[in-house]
Amino acid sequence: MSCSVLLRMKIAIFASGTGSNALKIIAHLATLPDVQCLILSNKANAPILAKAQTIGIETFVFTKTEFYEQTTVVDFLKAQSIQFIVLAGFLWLVPPSFIAAFPKAIINLHPALLPKFGGKGMYGMRVHEAVKAANEMETGITIHYVNEKYDEGEIILQARCPIATMDTPESIAQKVQALEHLHLPEVVKNLVALASKGL
Ligand code: GAR
Repeated sequence: MSCSVLLRMKIAIFASGTGSNALKIIAHLATLPDVQCLILSNKANAPILAKAQTIGIETFVFTKTEFYEQTTVVDFLKAQSIQFIVLAGFLWLVPPSFIAAFPKAIINLHPALLPKFGGKGMYGMRVHEAVKAANEMETGITIHYVNEKYDEGEIILQARCPIATMDTPESIAQKVQALEHLHLPEVVKNLVALASKGL
């Protein structure tokens, strides 16, 4: 995929934890003209919020009621002219009305090779502990479009890493995070380039 033309794209990154992937995306896109990132979170104390504010990135925090029972979040994103959304460490199921508001424009990062080790309750270290418990020989990451079900949307990219016998859930997490940081920013950049051309 080429990314030679980028025009006034605004991207929302949903992150509710440390936000290392959100920061990698922001840094990777910073060199592009007319691409702006915002951070949204459902956790007012998520470390990513302070980090984003430090580097001048606008943030928006919302509640479960605002996300599931009101149009607050979609209204905010539309008012901000957001065209592309990345879930990077965001754990809530996205409601159908939200998906319909941003067709083929929401992607999710998952820390395993879907369809294995996905679904409700499979996130963060829980995934790596399950991978270790299953004596898997490899793991990796999946970047996929978001649909109405947890971790079931169309896969965009998977990347793999081997698991050694001596690996622990923590060392597996480190390997997976390295893959995430390597691939997610470039995938976002390429998809944003396509979206900016209306493709
Ligand atoms: C990432 O490992 C991502 O794959 C995972 O949360 C982490 C966020 O890390 N997402 C899920 O588990 C979703 N099911 P970060 O806050 O350092 O970017």
